[in-house]
Amino acid sequence: MSGKSAVRAIGLTKVYGSGHTAVLAVDNVSLEVDKGELVLIMGPSGSGKTTLLSMLGGLLRPTSGQIFVNGTEVTGLSESRLPEVRAREIGFIFQAFNLLSSLTVEENILFPASLVPGSAKAVRRRTAELLERLGLSHRRRYLPRDLSGGEKQRVAIARALINDTKLILADEPIGTSGRHKRKRSTIEGSYNQPRSKPPISRLSDAVQLAGLGFISGGGARFGATGARAAGGG
Ligand SMILES: Nc1ncnc2c1ncn2[C@@H]1O[C@H](COP(=O)(O)OP(=O)(O)OP(=O)(O)O)[C@@H](O)[C@H]1O
Ligand SMILES: [Mg+2]
Repeated sequence: MSGKSAVRAIGLTKVYGSGHTAVLAVDNVSLEVDKGELVLIMGPSGSGKTTLLSMLGGLLRPTSGQIFVNGTEVTGLSESRLPEVRAREIGFIFQAFNLLSSLTVEENILFPASLVPGSAKAVRRRTAELLERLGLSHRRRYLPRDLSGGEKQRVAIARALINDTKLILADEPIGTSGRHKRKRSTIEGSYNQPRSKPPISRLSDAVQLAGLGFISGGGARFGATGARAAGGG
């Protein structure tokens, strides 16, 4: 495999349930995302986007296939090793944000940092910087239930950035509206088709997704023009 892949998946398949209620949510997807590359995954509601991202993020075991994140095979890791590797290698922004309800904004952001060894001082500094950049400083001691939807979203983004991971997975970070009414179709091997690669923005530690400027770190700026889209829709 190429040494510069942030993530590489081979033949990923996920079947939920069994028998005649079995759902084939992801069907034989292979993809490779290089460091610095931005990939958008598009498809109608129910086509398997969350399932695919959850597998890439080590949150859900595939039925078959392999996943390498930054060179480490996450599909080969034990349950006990997964949390630390996940925290060190992957920032994940969930579709429903998944903030911890009993922790404050600041504690939520700090949580992934508590799973990996590192300097407490550096983590405090980065937290303060993220709070500032995402416009959350005045909410740092609030609980999630006292936040607006957009504020919760920004906390989720800050939490995904705290460990400065090479890979950031964002599941509809700009929200889901009711416009996904199209028929379900499974995300399948269409990812495997050869594509001509458009120029790709570098995003070693920054991302900008359509309309939602976010992210930080080294101060790099990125346009959305380098995105390449792949979809089962
Ligand atoms: N835990 C589960 N058990 C059984 N079926 C599931 C489970 N999670 C998802 N599914 C099914 O798998 C398919 C893919 O779901 P998934 O959540 O990955 O879709 P999605 O593309 O993220 O949709 P949306 O755009 O609505 O978020 C759907 O048919 C869904 O009903
Ligand atoms: Mg989803």
